[in-house]
Amino acid sequence: MAEFVEIVEMGPRDGLQNEKRLIPTDEKIALVNALNLVGFRRIEVASFVSPKWVPQMADSARVMAGMTRLPGVRYMALTPNLKGYESARAARADEVAIFASASEGFSKANLNCSIAESLARFHPVADAARADGIALRGYVSVVTDCPYDGAIAPQAAARVTAALRDMGCHEVSLGDTIGQGVPERVDAMLAAVLQEMPANRLAGHFHDTAGRALANIEVSLARGLRVFDAAVGGLGGCPYAPGAAGNVATEAVDARLKALGYDTGLDPARLAEAAAVARAMRTGSERAGE
Ligand code: HMG
Ligand code: MG
Repeated sequence: MAEFVEIVEMGPRDGLQNEKRLIPTDEKIALVNALNLVGFRRIEVASFVSPKWVPQMADSARVMAGMTRLPGVRYMALTPNLKGYESARAARADEVAIFASASEGFSKANLNCSIAESLARFHPVADAARADGIALRGYVSVVTDCPYDGAIAPQAAARVTAALRDMGCHEVSLGDTIGQGVPERVDAMLAAVLQEMPANRLAGHFHDTAGRALANIEVSLARGLRVFDAAVGGLGGCPYAPGAAGNVATEAVDARLKALGYDTGLDPARLAEAAAVARAMRTGSERAGE
């Protein structure tokens, strides 16, 4: 039997957070409902961040209230602080994610604080999630390259991964936020991070700006990672990482993993339908003059 590799769908969150056109809540709900049919175990649907920082995610509670919930699917949300966590819990998120940076420059741009301050803010979120029995994921951004600080030392990514592990994250997702990672440096970063956390608790989160995301996924597979984040239709980017393209497209990851002999559990026809929904949303943005 083929070995299972999980693709965690990011489209409704990482995909849409950067769209300039304010996408109507109903369109977001339609995207989640299309993704529901594809066979994902986890879909990141929301982000309870400051609406002043990321206006596109301001309707996260309404998206979570309006979408269909399928048994067996875990609906995830980003939570930068306790305020965000409380909103995510009220919206019945199954899994919440705290997100730190391997560089000071990106931490400041994305969270308006240093790495140490961000970790201090995440502690109460982690404690509350544990008390409430809500699964906690961690992200480390800019694991190899930062738009502000340049090349990142593997040890920097490893240190932040260890801090998130110590807070109780069941999994840490390693973000090539600006999609500039080259396989050799991704491999060196993984070698350092694996000293802190085993491969079965790590995920790869590759943006595809330079077209190397699939190569970086292959390097990660060779290091034993079996969870990858992706966004349907290649939607997205990060508002605080100028010029970065979206996550690698889910359909490209699915096709590559299957060609390599892995099982993803995803239905390619349903995935193509969801990708068409995502593309129509993007076309809507282009029509709106973006
Ligand atoms: P700040 O301005 O320093 O925060 O922002 P503050 O505590 O001073 O609060 C400012 C205002 O925001 C206050 O409102 C708060 O109530 C409000 P005011 O009194 O001015 O009316 N506020 C909130 N409102 C709703 N929900 C909240 C919340 N928190 C504060 N949770 C803060 C600090 C962390 C809030 C801000 O920097 C922020 O929201 N940053 C999020 C940026 C973001 O979402 N970036 C994209 C996601 S990360 C990503 O994409 C990377 C990833 O994909 C992995 C990868 O690719 O690397 C995960
Ligand atoms: Mg991202």
